[in-house]
Amino acid sequence: MTGVKEILARYSKELDPYIEKFLPPERPDNLMAATVQYPRAGGKRMRPAMVLAAAGAVGGNKEKAIPLAVAIEYIHNFTLIHDDYMDGDEKRRGMTTIHIGYGGPTAILAGDALFARAFQVMAELDVPDDVLREVLKVTTKAVWDLARGQQMDVNNENGEEVTMDEYIETIRLKTSVLFAAGAAGGALIGGADEGTVKAVHEYAMLLGVAFQMFDDVLGLIGDPVKLGKSVGNDLRKGKSTVMVTHALKNIKDEKIMKEFRSVLGKIDASEEEIQKARKILENAGSVKFALDMAEDYTKKAIGKLDRLNDTEDKEFMKALAEYAMTRDV
Ligand code: IPE
Ligand code: IPE
Ligand code: MG
Ligand code: MG
Repeated sequence: MTGVKEILARYSKELDPYIEKFLPPERPDNLMAATVQYPRAGGKRMRPAMVLAAAGAVGGNKEKAIPLAVAIEYIHNFTLIHDDYMDGDEKRRGMTTIHIGYGGPTAILAGDALFARAFQVMAELDVPDDVLREVLKVTTKAVWDLARGQQMDVNNENGEEVTMDEYIETIRLKTSVLFAAGAAGGALIGGADEGTVKAVHEYAMLLGVAFQMFDDVLGLIGDPVKLGKSVGNDLRKGKSTVMVTHALKNIKDEKIMKEFRSVLGKIDASEEEIQKARKILENAGSVKFALDMAEDYTKKAIGKLDRLNDTEDKEFMKALAEYAMTRDV
């Protein structure tokens, strides 16, 4: 099979005109510019690719799923705009974030606009009414859950000790649900039976957990230039990632714990201080712990695809799960 990156690039190229088509210029210019910035900047496009692959993997016509792929990417982009505002981050997809470039009010509105447009695009789906209804149910529930997850993420800032279960629940809600809505929606459009839709949904829920855990690792030790977004800020904000949860439970040396805690949640921590905390996490085995856990979730995700026939789309879905925790961007 061709590599995941090549397949993602192919899907991106195929989707670009559709992503553009539903964002025509309108007044006012600043809102429009803010609204199109992330969709045009691209990103990996893992979610829309998953929508199309899921439709194909269950034996359906992938073209029919294009409006859902576009909608899921718009929803993702809407959440990124709001997330960057909430997280106070300055870079995304290699560019200045929307709230920094255009101000907070415009960032809120650009997110809202993309959110609305996503459902307008979904109205273009050429599928039976009962399928459309199911797709709407899973998508709207995802956005609702995502809001809950994002609030839990915010609630867990400031170096609060959070249990592993609470952390997993948070990332299932803030990250997995949108992948899962895309995968399940694609399968529904592809004509899958209930059990298959469920399996594909579970696959994406598990993949999403591995994806976010790995994202947290990248957000700690990744290359900010390559990633196109800031690194180290989770520590500055005292976010309870799997690594932080592990470290707070496992560091036995009091001096080291004190040192770690002095950086965790220190919003103006210097690069040196972040580097120090990063080393502590590595030495405590917290990074490895997160990577092992991500691998576990990936394996479980792939296992959920057993009931699908062997096709190139299924192979891609498996490879996408591996990519979620091996990518460098
Ligand atoms: C970033 O998602 C937001 C998270 C859920 C961690 P991606 O890493 O998929 O971002 P893009 O779409 O490739 O920019
Ligand atoms: C992003 O989570 C999740 C959503 C956008 C819903 P993060 O805040 O952890 O991801 P990055 O690091 O900003 O991409
Ligand atoms: Mg963020
Ligand atoms: Mg966030």
